[in-house]
Amino acid sequence: MTQKYHITLLPGDGIGPEIMAVTVEVLQVIARQFALEFDFTDALVGGAAIDATGEPLPEATLEKCRNSDGVLLAAIGGYKWDNLPRHQRPETGLLALRAGLGLFANLRPATILPQLIDASTLKREVVEGVDIMVVRELTGGIYFGQPKGIFAAETGVKRGVNTMAYTEGEIDRIAKVGFETAQKRQGKLCSVDKANVLDVSQLWRDRVTAMGSEYPDVELSHLYVDNAAMQLVRAPKQFDTIVTSNMFGDILSDAAAMLTGSIGMLPSASLGADGTGVFEPVHGSAPDIAGQDKANPLAQVLSGAMMLRYGLKQSAAADKIEQAVSAVLEVGYRTGDIMSPGTRQVGCRGMGEALIQILES
Ligand code: IPM
Ligand code: MG
Repeated sequence: MTQKYHITLLPGDGIGPEIMAVTVEVLQVIARQFALEFDFTDALVGGAAIDATGEPLPEATLEKCRNSDGVLLAAIGGYKWDNLPRHQRPETGLLALRAGLGLFANLRPATILPQLIDASTLKREVVEGVDIMVVRELTGGIYFGQPKGIFAAETGVKRGVNTMAYTEGEIDRIAKVGFETAQKRQGKLCSVDKANVLDVSQLWRDRVTAMGSEYPDVELSHLYVDNAAMQLVRAPKQFDTIVTSNMFGDILSDAAAMLTGSIGMLPSASLGADGTGVFEPVHGSAPDIAGQDKANPLAQVLSGAMMLRYGLKQSAAADKIEQAVSAVLEVGYRTGDIMSPGTRQVGCRGMGEALIQILES
């Protein structure tokens, strides 16, 4: 029997629609091959939603996402909306989507593919074999803590405020995801905080340490975030699974992404306790190359694979997509961001066509 899934597509802004189009075509091919059926519906988020409705996350979009089996998001944001008041910015829509669906766990894998080692800005011996999973807390910390805002004192002096706060419960549930993720990988978990300065980080470290005794099979370590940033570029192979707060995870996952050659390669999965997950590339909307058929669609395609694996539990279909990505690189196809001597440059659509050819061969 054909398994049917309702998937909400959020192409968003910039290069979003181009990379989403490639991914949908890939998923259609996979559907035929694995007897799946995808019922895709588009919805508005980010700048596209602001232009159409005045809000970055219309209620109708959230409702559609809640009622679907998976959400594929491309990217949001662009110069055009950068000066709007905060509640009308594209990024606010993305944060509202994460909060609205309760997506507290963000998995960001940074794995270097052998074909791309020479596309990395780091030396071959430093990056060869890198395979890191960053588990980023996604609905708490300084992104959401109260009070927040820009307040004017009676003297007229303005003060900008954000609050980094975590409750024990918020720390415990993301730590659990961290430990369980490490168990399925190499059994090493590094918790990243700033406990030498921040009280919120001290609580984080205390809770993660306490939970460690429940996972004797996981080797737990702790690093301060500044040291972690340094270690990531110095000796990234020491890391297996990293668990960290919202803002530290935002920063470290961009750094981890670059180890692999290009941020244009990395997918992510945002998951809640249960319910619909959102699957999106780690990269942004790249407005400077939007509409020029230059974007690398592979992070989006790999996000589709993560949706199959983590959201829809169709791991064989996910494997097939990941193998096709590897194969397309093996044959030598490259978008501009991952070019190296002796390879063949293609655009976003060309990369999609090459993928489909491999999937169908
Ligand atoms: C990310 C992005 C977002 C974040 C922005 C666009 C709100 O940088 O997903 O890493 O900071 O979480
Ligand atoms: Mg980021």
